[in-house]
Amino acid sequence: MKVAISLALLGATSALAAKASLSSVKRVTNLPIVPNKFIVEVSDASEIPSKRALGTPHEQLYQSLRERKISFNVHKEYDAPGVFIGASLSLNNTQDVANILKADGVIGIQPVRTFPRPVPVLLKKVSLGDPGLPDSESTHITTGVDKLHAKGITGKGIKIGILDTGTDYTHPFLGGGFGPGFKVAGGFDLVGDDYTGENAPMPDPDPLDQCSGHGTHVAGIVGANPGNEFNISGVAYDATIFSYRVFGCTGVVQDDVLVDALLMGAKAGMDILTMSLGGADGWTESVSSVVSSRIAASGTIVTIAASNDGASGAWFTSSPGNAINAISVASSDNTVIPLQSLTVSGVTHDPITYYDTFPLPVVGTLPLYATSNDTTVVDDACNPLPASTPDLSGFAVLVRRGTCTFAQKLANIAAFGGNTTLIYDNGSGFAAIDVGNFSAVLIQAEDGVFLAQQFAAGAHISVSFPQSGGAVQFPAPTGGLVSTFTSYGPTNDVFFKPAITAPGGNILSTFPVPLGSWALFSGTSMATPFMAGSAALVLSVKGKSPAVARGARTLFQSTAKPISSSLTDGDPFQTAAQQGAGLVQVFDAIFGTTTLSRTELILNDTAHFAGPQKFTVQNTGKTVKTYTLSHVPAGTAVTFEAGSILPEIGPVPLSTDFASVTFNGGKFTLQPGQSHDVVATITPPKGVDATTFPVYSGFIFVTSGTESVHATYLGVAASLKNAHSVDDTDEIFGVDLPALLDSQGNVQDGPVNYTFVGEDAPTVVWRQAFGTPLLLLDLVSSDIQFTGTLNKRAPISFTSPHNGGTFAKVPTVGPILQVPWLGRNDLVEIPEYTELLENTFANGTVIPNGSYKVLLRSLRVTGDPTNEADYESWLSPVFGVAA
Ligand SMILES: *[C@@H]1O[C@H](CO)[C@@H](O)[C@H](O)[C@H]1NC(C)=O
Ligand SMILES: *[C@@H]1O[C@H](CO)[C@@H](O)[C@H](O)[C@H]1NC(C)=O
Ligand SMILES: *[C@@H]1O[C@H](CO)[C@@H](O)[C@H](O)[C@H]1NC(C)=O
Ligand SMILES: *[C@@H]1O[C@H](CO)[C@@H](O)[C@H](O)[C@H]1NC(C)=O
Ligand SMILES: *[C@@H]1O[C@H](CO)[C@@H](O)[C@H](O)[C@H]1NC(C)=O
Ligand SMILES: *[C@@H]1O[C@H](CO)[C@@H](O)[C@H](O)[C@H]1NC(C)=O
Ligand SMILES: *[C@@H]1O[C@H](CO)[C@@H](O)[C@H](O)[C@H]1NC(C)=O
Ligand SMILES: *[C@@H]1O[C@H](CO)[C@@H](O)[C@H](O)[C@H]1NC(C)=O
Ligand SMILES: *[C@@H]1O[C@H](CO)[C@@H](O)[C@H](O)[C@H]1NC(C)=O
Ligand SMILES: *[C@@H]1O[C@H](CO)[C@@H](O)[C@H](O)[C@H]1NC(C)=O
Repeated sequence: MKVAISLALLGATSALAAKASLSSVKRVTNLPIVPNKFIVEVSDASEIPSKRALGTPHEQLYQSLRERKISFNVHKEYDAPGVFIGASLSLNNTQDVANILKADGVIGIQPVRTFPRPVPVLLKKVSLGDPGLPDSESTHITTGVDKLHAKGITGKGIKIGILDTGTDYTHPFLGGGFGPGFKVAGGFDLVGDDYTGENAPMPDPDPLDQCSGHGTHVAGIVGANPGNEFNISGVAYDATIFSYRVFGCTGVVQDDVLVDALLMGAKAGMDILTMSLGGADGWTESVSSVVSSRIAASGTIVTIAASNDGASGAWFTSSPGNAINAISVASSDNTVIPLQSLTVSGVTHDPITYYDTFPLPVVGTLPLYATSNDTTVVDDACNPLPASTPDLSGFAVLVRRGTCTFAQKLANIAAFGGNTTLIYDNGSGFAAIDVGNFSAVLIQAEDGVFLAQQFAAGAHISVSFPQSGGAVQFPAPTGGLVSTFTSYGPTNDVFFKPAITAPGGNILSTFPVPLGSWALFSGTSMATPFMAGSAALVLSVKGKSPAVARGARTLFQSTAKPISSSLTDGDPFQTAAQQGAGLVQVFDAIFGTTTLSRTELILNDTAHFAGPQKFTVQNTGKTVKTYTLSHVPAGTAVTFEAGSILPEIGPVPLSTDFASVTFNGGKFTLQPGQSHDVVATITPPKGVDATTFPVYSGFIFVTSGTESVHATYLGVAASLKNAHSVDDTDEIFGVDLPALLDSQGNVQDGPVNYTFVGEDAPTVVWRQAFGTPLLLLDLVSSDIQFTGTLNKRAPISFTSPHNGGTFAKVPTVGPILQVPWLGRNDLVEIPEYTELLENTFANGTVIPNGSYKVLLRSLRVTGDPTNEADYESWLSPVFGVAA
């Protein structure tokens, strides 16, 4: 079987501008699952006394499989009673999945999924002594961590397990060693350097990472020691770190490895497990999500990145971050961006800020040359420069942004020897730019216009780039807001992901010593260890009991600070579907004296609306308090284009169609220790367009004097069962989907026979417009009496809907593909799912010569899997097997 595992690049921002080309469709299987590999969960035999005699649950499973003549290969065994017992297996025959489900003691089976390695949104390697870097103070100050450090609260005695690329514990500020007594006191390498996610892991006991660096950066955010040149410190720098390495130097990880690492960490007694990784799937049900959630329920705090798919729009959450009981973490942008400045001589002007973290390595003073004297020329230097242009090698060249790529302008300048270039903005888009190998920086429009005009007027301007002392703390235009790259929820089953926000933009932290020791990254990967460290501070003060651990998310959420959707006054709060409950306030979480029993008030969709919501307020302080209740809505996320199968890509538009909230009384007084039940009756926004699947949310504040805590509500003002499951439009490729492509990659529009030799085989192409709990591809006879809901013909009802159990009545020849809990397709990066057909059934048996169709069925969200009417379905054109 041909397999290409396509990885979504985290942090992508470019929308699909036009229709994609059909020829870009890969003629392979591109689902993010590993072919023929499954994780099986079995029941705990020790709970059934009569079964103990039959051996371990694993032996019983294997025995039962052998009895059923199922051939399999064991990769991993899981044995965590109360959490997860099972194994990961390769099957020779995928069709045996149904058979395995029938075996004694088997609770469930899922395909093994792959998760991309975390890709930072921004990465800069830093050398010791580089000036002008942010210290960790700004992020510690905005969250109250500085005040906790001042009180000596630094996470002592707390064990944090990090599942990542490993840790360079040789780093002097990560303790300089490995094993008991060191900061990195333990862990394990589950995969080895060469693991790519497509080969066999080669475990060893040493989780040292000197090739990737991501995990070393994460470890520094949790626990870097203070006293370094950069003045950074981890959130919980006296906590003990255990490093579980689940990525090799490159590639992805399969979730059977993640599950292994999670159980290993839990068994080793970690108080907190943290994972800065994930892949979009939109459901809470993947094995690694379920195991993470159970570990969290058993009293270990689990923090997981929400992921960096914000550009892809709503309903695009990642596993394992979707774990119901874990803390899924969003990122907020720093309030300042560390930039550099250049100095100007020949004219009077303040130092000019340029968009780079580090000084441009240009020594000395260079005269300025402008490629155009006219600052309104929009395509400045897009064409070769005039022959009259001087040798530019000794100049700093000034050029206007616009029309063509930076690379093209810079190449035209380089043609005359120029390679120190100031590009001035053509608007207010001052942000990081990609100039490849050229030595070029972006400056703001007004600075560039000034320089160009002075040059045109004949001024002899020169510039220099101070190698130290030129640092500028530039106010971030998005400072304090949720980072646009943060993935949006909710999950397809309307769980509250992300749960909370922590600083994740522009974070300076430790990096492997051979790679330069320090680096600057942005991403939810950075926000997640911040939460893990914050959790350590909570446990170190409140004690590490399972009750404290289980209550930590509620404590963090109740005391978090809701974040606005913009810096413009009067704009609503950002949707809770991206920020969760707000920016974490660790000091308040620990020293607050009002608690809420519940902080995630999930109203679900209109078909499953969860009426009035009750939560309990308790005064845990020493004084009498009088509380008032108030409601502040967040912007309602308009998640789909009206009447369309297309999701709104990020930043997801917000509307002011708010929910309204009433309470059982507005004001109450509590003695120390006393509690009060609040009933909030939330009415979804009225008059909204349900075809946009609006996600409404907001905050219910409980305020006494200067203390304010809140619960966050979230619901969908539509029925999710009405969401189109499968794209049946020509929006993306200009041809109707789903489609059967012939061996040339063209849509098959008449009968074709295939030999299945070489490339001569058909491919099924479809897009999930929304996630599905169950996707099925079956081979059916070409004369089947069935009309797909998506085939553009008058529908024939072959069964009456809603009579239950109609699903299995469709006669099929054999299964091709079954995928549970499949996420929707991305509009930004990967536009479709594909499945290359073979001339064998999933059980390896050759399909006899004959004519067939493919039946694709996708269960709608909240649909009944036994009811055919709850599936969208499509029948392919006839194709012949002539192999
Ligand atoms: C499973 O398939 C592999 C590879 O085709 C083969 O070597 C092995 O013998 C098969 N196992 C069984 C039990 O059929
Ligand atoms: C680190 O902090 C010290 C004391 O506050 C200060 O003097 C020094 O300039 C800081 N260094 C950097 C690189 O910010
Ligand atoms: C600036 O140039 C870019 C690239 O050509 C273009 O997309 C953008 O619209 C321009 N902005 C303004 C304000 O002209
Ligand atoms: C940039 O420079 C690096 C290192 O010299 C080289 O490997 C790479 O190919 C160059 N890239 C381009 C686009 O020239
Ligand atoms: C431009 O200068 C930089 C820094 O000196 C150098 O690394 C790069 O290779 C040069 N690029 C070109 C295209 O000459
Ligand atoms: C731009 O202005 C400078 C200074 O006045 C002059 O030397 C140069 O020739 C002008 N360039 C063009 C293309 O007119
Ligand atoms: C929302 O309702 C669906 C359908 O009953 C259910 O499967 C899902 O778990 C509910 N979500 C939450 C968060 O309760
Ligand atoms: C496909 O093969 C069948 C059986 O050999 C034959 O009857 C039919 O004409 C063939 N169709 C095409 C389009 O070649
Ligand atoms: C394989 O599956 C096909 C289709 O379901 C079935 O007809 C065939 O008997 C199966 N072969 C084996 C060896 O089980
Ligand atoms: C299936 O059809 C192909 C092409 O016509 C032929 O070569 C092959 O012998 C047929 N196989 C069987 C089992 O009839």
